Amino acid sequence: MAQIIDGKMISTMIKDECRNKAEALKEQGREVCLAVIQVGCDPASSVYVNNKKKACAYIGINSLSYELKEETTQEELMKLINELNGRKDVNGILVQLPLPGHIDENAIIKAIDPKKDVDGFHPQSVGALCIGQPGFVSCTPAGIIELLKRSGVTICGKRCVIIGRSNIVGKPMALLMLRENATVTVAHSRTENLREVCRQADILIVAMGKPRYIDASYVKEGAVVIDVGIHRNEDNKLCGDVDFESVSPVASAITPVPGGVGPMTIAMLMKNCVESIELQ
Ligand code: GUN
Repeated sequence: MAQIIDGKMISTMIKDECRNKAEALKEQGREVCLAVIQVGCDPASSVYVNNKKKACAYIGINSLSYELKEETTQEELMKLINELNGRKDVNGILVQLPLPGHIDENAIIKAIDPKKDVDGFHPQSVGALCIGQPGFVSCTPAGIIELLKRSGVTICGKRCVIIGRSNIVGKPMALLMLRENATVTVAHSRTENLREVCRQADILIVAMGKPRYIDASYVKEGAVVIDVGIHRNEDNKLCGDVDFESVSPVASAITPVPGGVGPMTIAMLMKNCVESIELQ
């Protein structure tokens, strides 16, 4: 039976480390502040935004909350970002995605000062990651690296297959695993023989957005399986992209849903926030 990788416990450890750092900074008279912007009131986004504000309170940093109406124009949002870019008391700026259709998401991401880009979505942050220079890294993939390292999983030299090529998870995940000296394959919806490709993996990272799609037939005996998916099943219970019951007898370690990757995203956001003050 697989080792269960406890994201809840590891994320609490990281948040507690952040809390200690924030406290030390406070003693030097330096206060960390994250500005969180939500446009519209998508219920899922509201839950995420609330959790981010709660995490700020937990680690003892300030948060500013901007809840803008759905009809907010791109110009209005841009103006707010420019104002926050210029504020010395604001260290991190986070615009919750997705944005309403009339707003150009890429233009908004590009408007955030890369020194305050705690989500790691700015093209400069992504470029820096690509060529191995310092910069903010997207929180979910950065959290997965922490999960693996803190669970004692060796990455160096291992074959890693990532399913999914999004800008937020798949692509930065591939770059991070490369940085850790894994041999990386990125699979996606057009990949032929997906099952055979996955069966090559020592570490299989699944971010495909299909509930319980990956069963034991996709997993090599002894592989480490990381599930980035989050869905509600027929009984309104949370599940991932991986069929946990089927895969856990085959894997050597596996993340559960909930309590695996999910809590790590916010923990890494907090880490980025505390580190952002060093850049300013
Ligand atoms: N929407 C879904 N995930 C994220 C995230 O990590 N950051 C932001 N800003 N929006 C998201």
